[in-house]
Amino acid sequence: MKKILFVASEAVPFVKTGGLADVVGSLPKAFDKKKYDVRVVIPNYHAIREEFRNQMKTLYYFQMDNRIYVGVKELVYDGITFYFIDNEQYFSGIVPYYDMFQDLERFAYFSKAVLSALPLIGFRPDIIHAHDWQASLVPVYLNTVFQGDPFFRGIRTVFTIHNIRFQGTWDVGHIQWVSALPWECFQPGLLVSPYQDTSIPRNSWNCSMMRGGIVYSDYVTTVSRSYANEIQTPAFGDGLDDILKWRSERLWGIVNGIDYKIWDPGKDKKIAQNYSEKTLEEGKRKNKMALQRLVGLDENPDVFTIGIVSRLTDQKGLDLVNIIMDELSSRYVNVIILGTGAKCYEDSFRYFQGKYPDKVRAMIMYSDDLAHQIYAGCDALLVPSAFEPCGLTQLISQRYGTVPIVHAIGGLKDTVEPYNQFEETGTGFSFDEYSAWALMDRINHATWLYYDKKESWDNLRKRGMEKDWSWKTSSKIYEDLYSRM
Ligand code: ADP
Ligand code: GLC
Repeated sequence: MKKILFVASEAVPFVKTGGLADVVGSLPKAFDKKKYDVRVVIPNYHAIREEFRNQMKTLYYFQMDNRIYVGVKELVYDGITFYFIDNEQYFSGIVPYYDMFQDLERFAYFSKAVLSALPLIGFRPDIIHAHDWQASLVPVYLNTVFQGDPFFRGIRTVFTIHNIRFQGTWDVGHIQWVSALPWECFQPGLLVSPYQDTSIPRNSWNCSMMRGGIVYSDYVTTVSRSYANEIQTPAFGDGLDDILKWRSERLWGIVNGIDYKIWDPGKDKKIAQNYSEKTLEEGKRKNKMALQRLVGLDENPDVFTIGIVSRLTDQKGLDLVNIIMDELSSRYVNVIILGTGAKCYEDSFRYFQGKYPDKVRAMIMYSDDLAHQIYAGCDALLVPSAFEPCGLTQLISQRYGTVPIVHAIGGLKDTVEPYNQFEETGTGFSFDEYSAWALMDRINHATWLYYDKKESWDNLRKRGMEKDWSWKTSSKIYEDLYSRM
């Protein structure tokens, strides 16, 4: 039995701000239980619902380095053991993340606390699998500060990049202060770029915690093959392309799956009407009307209804959506946007709702219930991201018979097969050039197919539903990776 510990900053069902939580909460369930004991550790945020917090059992508490409190709580959920690192000072906010300056200290503490707690909780992992920058100091601590302790010797590490845009970056002075890592870690080529200008004082050098995760781990993975290639180039590598290229033999791109129990149009309790491929037509009509009623649009099962479910950030290609909104709204369509994030996008979508009240709805909020209803009730989903490590919304939408319209980049390229009208193949629409024109062109094609080629449209969305986006295939690739270590 191989023991694996996932370390991350969020996990469904406890706390979620994006796809990271979906992956960390669902992938552990997909492994062969006879061969793998996969457990997860996240911070014990106050933002976790009372219902869960009340069920947690306190395992241990102690003073790390004789000065900082660490509590360890445990909860078994859906067959998976979750541990929670408890510290009121760091995790008592109403949201999981603060600003970067404070988060560096909070997650440096978290990473060290996870390792410090391990000898006490009776679970010695063979492999620690750390996710994203918030857990990226785990492999660094393990291979430096903790190496002297025989308990830790031989533990292997995997580091998964979910988004290279966020790296936990500050100057050496601050990161050394919050992490108390030995100075040797801050040499150029380790947590600092090999191209660092060393003529300036060391405390001012630029330092990336994620670089540390990449350098000190046995293997690095990211969440699609295309993204694994893209981040080895300066355009997408955000300053880490050099180290990723250098480690490319140890860099795997493994595409994400989705939790088929949570995302199942046949059983989903959050939608108005359950449906399958066979009852798709009827299911879509009912869910569309329920969605329109809910968001205050006229009930009309015939109108082409386009959804967006997204963090409202520059990553997601919303600048393109803003450019086309006037043209799009001149068509016979509904556009329903669900998201929160940058004020500029929240405001612009509210503006378009005001301008086109009978067509556009800007649902500026985070709502899991509404997300399910949008996947079920829309005909198409827009994902025009500028970059996208994997993306889950286009996978969920395919499962719900909702046709994705995407920018052919990263995971979107790997998971949406473009519609080919001559061979009648494909599962969605995609555009290569990142431009508003290209996006509008694909939406036009989709709209035409929806209204004028009913049968082709129907087959297109059914092909999407037939695809298997569960963790079945990808969990086997992770098992293969673990077995090499
Ligand atoms: P990212 O992790 O970059 O935000 P993903 O596509 O991987 O993008 O995952 C996004 C996840 O968050 C999906 O499960 C999606 O349904 C969910 N989501 C995004 N925005 C919202 C929102 N406003 N309300 C509810 N769920 C949301
Ligand atoms: C990140 C990426 C997204 C990916 C998710 C889960 O948030 O932006 O593309 O699907 O992580 O891996």
